[in-house]
Parts: sequence; structure tokens; C-alpha cells
Amino acid sequence: MVSLSDSMGDLSVGYPKDGIHAKGQRVRDGFRQRFGGGPSFIARAPGRVNLIGDHTDYNDGFVLPMAIDRAVWLALRIRDDRRVVVHSLDFSEDASFALDQGTARQGGWVEYLRGVAWALDEAGRPTSGWGGGAAADVPLGAGLSSSAALELATARGFAAITGVIWQPVAMARLAQRAENEWVGVNCGIMDQLISAAGVSGHALLIDCRTLETRAVSIPDQAAIVVLDTGTRRGLVDSAYNERRAQCEAAARVFGVTALRDVDVPTFVARENELDATTRKRARHVVTEDARTVQAAELLDRGDVEGVGALMDESHRSLRDDFEVSRPELDTMVALARRETSCFGARMTGAGFGGCAVALVRREDAEAFVRSVARAYGEAVGIQPFVYLCAASEGASVERLTDDT
Ligand code: GLA
Repeated sequence: MVSLSDSMGDLSVGYPKDGIHAKGQRVRDGFRQRFGGGPSFIARAPGRVNLIGDHTDYNDGFVLPMAIDRAVWLALRIRDDRRVVVHSLDFSEDASFALDQGTARQGGWVEYLRGVAWALDEAGRPTSGWGGGAAADVPLGAGLSSSAALELATARGFAAITGVIWQPVAMARLAQRAENEWVGVNCGIMDQLISAAGVSGHALLIDCRTLETRAVSIPDQAAIVVLDTGTRRGLVDSAYNERRAQCEAAARVFGVTALRDVDVPTFVARENELDATTRKRARHVVTEDARTVQAAELLDRGDVEGVGALMDESHRSLRDDFEVSRPELDTMVALARRETSCFGARMTGAGFGGCAVALVRREDAEAFVRSVARAYGEAVGIQPFVYLCAASEGASVERLTDDT
């Protein structure tokens, strides 16, 4: 059965979204209950959805994600020792660690915070102990980058507590290092950079080699809908790492640093030098880079039909050449495309489960959400989560002036 929750003008099916005031207030109240007195700062970092450009970031290529209006929230107050003590409102549990710690892992969500503290320390940046309350309305493990959001909220919190100026790109790199080397997930830079540097009302075209970003306005007539299949990616790390290795092998055949350096004509001229599997992987990356740059240009011009067509092509490429889709994602995309209000749809993120994203005519978005959620539930037998998302700003902090 489809249950609709409509908060602050947002229409979603499934996972609840906190109202804008409820978000800050909830984490503030949780802090007060756990620690007594009020927090000094509220740090927030958003999840993301990628409009186009998947499996291109670790090939030094282009991505076009936007930060969504769902986030991780931390309420913080400095401590006079060098411990971090955090109460998770979502898990109703405490976790803590000492800064200047050893490297033995405790496991669980606290490792994202520890990883950021470790990466700050490695980079010679100041850290300080704090007590905090944590809450999120970005769903965990759904492919909306809840872990990057937790990392960036932590980094934003540390910057506030230690009085350091916020540097989004540097902090994104540092959070990526935490994820790669502390948590042990070999991700690219996309998720951390969009959570750090997102721009309200815009997607960001990110050059993952130079880390230059360009804000691209989402046209008024279009809405972004995230369609969570309710499937979760198993064994994703090994498949992800295998794809990375195949891309690196292809780059070696072309004699370049990364597949970013191969354009479509060069690929077509030399693709026979690659074995069949490597050729398919490389074809996806090379064409996806071209689609992503073009999609940003078309968005600038408000050509939503053109962007939608590129999203459709991207899905086919991820499905057939990169082979990271799965039947539920293909079904979701097909059901979305059946709606006349849909300009284009594709799986988004790493794949193997999780979410699709659709570009939809804004005035029809509500009907689209209801219709696709119902159709997917009937076709697959899994209740999907469907979110109409607004593009939000990247990590932010609010300094609280009093103790109330
Ligand atoms: C995951 C990774 C990103 C990126 C995407 C695929 O989200 O964390 O770095 O590689 O997959 O585009």
C-alpha cells in the first residue's frame, strides 16, 4: 500500500523526511536530553543524487550530481578532553573514541567519524574533543550517500569546534581519504565533493581531475524524483573494485593516465585493441563523460527533453556495457519512462541495487510519484521509496548564540 507523507511542500512515498525546522530541533533536543544544556553548533551535510555521470569519477572524468534536501545533522559542544562522544538518535546508542587513538577499528557508524578525525590529523589540521547528538533523514545504505553525508557533517563540525575556515574541496578530499583508507571503501570523489560543495537549486558539474565545479541551474519546469527500488547492493565492493581495475586496464592500453583522456573518436578508432569485456567497460566511461558534459550544457539552456534523452542513454550504457544495473532497477526505469511526464530516467550511483533518478515535468510530479510507486509495487512486490528532491546547499553550520 502506498502511504504518502507530505511535509513542507515535499511529496514522498515511504521513508519519512523531517520538516526543515524539525531537523535542527530534533538533534538539538536529543543533545539536550543526552548531555544536558544546549549545543554550540548544528552541523549539517546532505546526501546526493547523481543526475548523470556514473563510474566516471574514478576515471578522472565528469559527474553531474546534486545535493538533496535530506541530510545528516550533528549538534555539537566542545569538551575539555580529547574524546568524541556521540549519541545517535536514530540508533538510540552512544559511541565514543579518543582522538590520538590507535588504529584498531570498533566497527559500525562511528568509524566514519573516527576516519575523518584520523584524516584531519594526518593532514596536520587541528582536532578537539566534542560531545554530539546525531540524526539523519537521508536513508542509510540506499545509494544516496549517507556515509559521505556523515563524513562531511563530522568534518563541518570539527571545523566549527576548532574555529577553522571551511574549505569544501579540501574537506571533501579529506573525507574521501577517510572512506578509502580508514573505512576501506575505494570510492571516487563525487559523493564527498557534492555533499561539501552543493549549491541550492543547482546540480554541480564536477571535473573529477581538477576538482573544478560549475553550478548548473535545474530548470523551473523540471522536478528531480529519486526512485528507491528497495533492493540493496550486496557484494558491491568487489564488483566496484573489479570495474575500477578494468577501467585502469583499458587506460593502459590507450597509453593514458585515465579513461578521461580518451575521447569518443579515439575510442572508436582503437576499440579493437581491447578484449570484449574491457571494451564494453571503456565504452561506457568514454561515452558517459561525453553525455555528462553535454547534459550540463543542455540543462543550462533549459533543454529538459535533451537531458532526458541523455539520461536514457546513460541507463542503457550502465546496464549493457558497464553491467551494474539489476532487474528491479531496469523495471523502475521502464515504469518511469512509461509516464508521459517523464523526460528521462536512469539508475544512479554505484548500481547493483538502490535508486533510479527521473527528470519529470514539475507540474505532473505528484501524479508521477504516485503512479510509479503503485506500478512498481504491483510489478515487483516490493514497496518502493519515492522522493521528490530539491537541490540543496552543501555542508553548513549554524552557531547557536544562547543555551536555549
Ligand atoms: C559510488 C562511489 C562514487 C562513484 C559512484 C558511481 O557512489 O562512492 O565515488 O564512483 O559510486 O558513479
